[in-house]
Amino acid sequence: MSAEPSARSFDSSYPDPGDMLVVRGGTPLCGEIRVRGAKNLVSKAMVAALLGSTPSTLYDVPAIRDVEVVTGLLRLHGVRVESLGDGRLVLDPANVETADVEELNVHAGASRIPILFCGPLLHRLGRAFIPDLGGCRIGGRPIDFHLDALREMGAVVDKTPDGLVITAPDGLHGTTLRLPYPSVGATEQVLLTAVLADGITELHNAAVEPEITDLIALLQKMGALITAHTDRLLRIEGVPALRGYAHRPLPDRLEAASWACAALATRGDVLVRGARQADLMTFLNVYRAVGGEFEVDDDPVDGGIRFWHPGGDLGAVALETDVHPGFMTDWQQPLVVALTQARGLSIVHETVYENRLGFTDALVTMGATIQVYSACLGATPCRFGHGGYRHSAVISGPSKLQGNDLVIPDLRGGFSHFIAALAAEGTSRVFGVHLIDRGYEDFGAKLAALGATVDGPAYERAGLRLAGGPLEAAR
Ligand code: EPZ
Repeated sequence: MSAEPSARSFDSSYPDPGDMLVVRGGTPLCGEIRVRGAKNLVSKAMVAALLGSTPSTLYDVPAIRDVEVVTGLLRLHGVRVESLGDGRLVLDPANVETADVEELNVHAGASRIPILFCGPLLHRLGRAFIPDLGGCRIGGRPIDFHLDALREMGAVVDKTPDGLVITAPDGLHGTTLRLPYPSVGATEQVLLTAVLADGITELHNAAVEPEITDLIALLQKMGALITAHTDRLLRIEGVPALRGYAHRPLPDRLEAASWACAALATRGDVLVRGARQADLMTFLNVYRAVGGEFEVDDDPVDGGIRFWHPGGDLGAVALETDVHPGFMTDWQQPLVVALTQARGLSIVHETVYENRLGFTDALVTMGATIQVYSACLGATPCRFGHGGYRHSAVISGPSKLQGNDLVIPDLRGGFSHFIAALAAEGTSRVFGVHLIDRGYEDFGAKLAALGATVDGPAYERAGLRLAGGPLEAAR
């Protein structure tokens, strides 16, 4: 692995120069990689282990920082978390205890998962302290739906300078709830709280993402009584106790789509082992509409999906991001990079987050032609049409991208910067690489396996994982 040393100097506004990779673009990504359990299920499954009276085992857990953060939070609450190698994690909640607020606050801003501790901690301890939340800066990301639902179920929420203190003086009870928007996190909040609450909870306008279905399956293994009805209605009958689970999560469909887009943007050919067609059908339709090719291998052990650029021009598309079964917001950012290489005008209307197109500014500095609008450029006006939010993009292609200095804004936007750097002519320096570690396991090793020419200080530091192995934090 080598890259030409860059003569450019560091801009003082850049983050830590040691957290940087040098990418030499212009080589198609070719080869195979494997995706493991979905980040957006694994972290919730780890929280669900708090609900059991016996230990839980989670398989195929990726070595990513979000898992380390949740491991740290669980340990602060007395949960024994042990990695048995090869992605196997055992979580024993026999001795759940109240965590020290100062220690919890060390994790403030690191993740959005702490908000999901509310229900399990209220059931176990009658009290929950939730530090300030973190996660990707892709919009306001309020938690009003979460808190409203908890209050309806009997919780009392006190806002303190340190964070939220939540109690349930009379216990938690079932109720009828309607989410203003089918939020993934708020649906998980209700599920993790209602399973042990007194009585029946009906949740209307629930999220139905595959990660939610998988969480319901896991809770069912624990003894929960949950029925999914048509029209986004979940009915949860509270039970007095739950046991631990043994669960293999659904594969990470967000990571799979990211590498698929990397193959397309770099005119490459990538086999993503572990990717599952059923979780990606909407993405695959768009991939095909753009001109990408794919082939599904259903083998349960070694199967996956091969994604490749068939040569010639890609075609422009118009799409809107939406809740499941729509086109996922997390697929949007990597796909936009591929759309810079498509002939014609593509239109992307982001309807899930109000601020998820900021990453396109960097693509423009690399030579992409992208205009971002605050109007809804889609068939259906969305919640963000009148707030001045820049949430629609028009991408005109194909554009020749040139290497540049890039600062990673968030997890998926950061992956998109890498794709752009790999598709570009010349050398790019990508700063803020540690953000990628939050959700992409073995990022450096996977880039190397696909033939990317990447080097730089982040390679030499422990922050960027070079190879798989047992979870650092869970050893
Ligand atoms: C989850 O975030 C995922 N994160 C996100 O993935 C994903 O983009 C998102 O679901 C949508 O699929 C995790 O699972 C950890 P939401 P979540 O609640 O649950 C609004 C990634 O890169 N809203 O479904 O936080 C909210 O502002 C991440 O892996 C409220 O207004 O998303 C947004 O506009 C990024 N009030 C919309 O709902 C609330 O109380 C959907 O958010 C809650 C949400």
